[in-house]
Amino acid sequence: MLHAENLQSGYGAAQVLFGVNLDIQAHQVVSLLGRNGMGKTTTVRTLMGMLPLKGGSITFDGQPVGGQRPHRIAKLGFGLVPEGRRVFPSLSVYENLVATSRNDYGGSWTLDAVYELFPRLKERNSQSARTLSGGEQQMLAIGRALLTNPRLLILDEATEGLAPVIRQEIWSCLNRLKAEGQTILLIDKNLKEMHHLVDRHYIIEKGRIVWSGNSQELQEQPDLVTQYLGV
Ligand SMILES: Nc1ncnc2c1ncn2[C@@H]1O[C@H](COP(=O)(O)OP(=O)(O)O)[C@@H](O)[C@H]1O
Ligand SMILES: [Mg+2]
Repeated sequence: MLHAENLQSGYGAAQVLFGVNLDIQAHQVVSLLGRNGMGKTTTVRTLMGMLPLKGGSITFDGQPVGGQRPHRIAKLGFGLVPEGRRVFPSLSVYENLVATSRNDYGGSWTLDAVYELFPRLKERNSQSARTLSGGEQQMLAIGRALLTNPRLLILDEATEGLAPVIRQEIWSCLNRLKAEGQTILLIDKNLKEMHHLVDRHYIIEKGRIVWSGNSQELQEQPDLVTQYLGV
């Protein structure tokens, strides 16, 4: 579905990505792993067209998408749950959900389906997003992305900084989405939860993909975790 080859990108004169390759097949959950500052969010911003592509290529269903404007790329079916949630604080829960909702590809996500997935959002339907807890804001960010009926859902540190019980709710949600066939690019640090969810992992180190393999291969090489992901 998504094929990214040798991505080069960064901020102004500062190059951050020096050759990122990613392949995501339909219905797969793919992870991007790496320590802080290695280029995970920069990769997401580059895929979404929020940063200029300085080299390499991105194709989505065989169509080149590199160099297109972010709203055009979003319309192709990229749904982003950004790092730090970034809900619209002054809008209500309802307004946040419908602000970007669309269904261009016959997805099954409706407002009711999101409220069924996260009943707390329904309870807080008319509250402004700034009054929500961190966990509720994360649910809102996920609900908002799902309501674009994305073909590829990208989650950038969606469980970061959440209480364990809320975090567990997010993992259940992701497991359900996978069971329903949702294609997902997942950036997270909870390897334990990711092992049974992720079909293919990519490890990024200083803007380069240094390893890729499945969960079993990752578990068989604990030194990879120490070398590239350890604290
Ligand atoms: N807005 C920005 N302007 C300049 N440099 C940035 C910006 N955002 C991130 N960087 C730099 O890019 C590198 C990769 O950052 P990032 O992609 O956010 O890492 P990760 O998501 O893996 O933690 C870091 O060195 C970081 O300091
Ligand atoms: Mg990041």
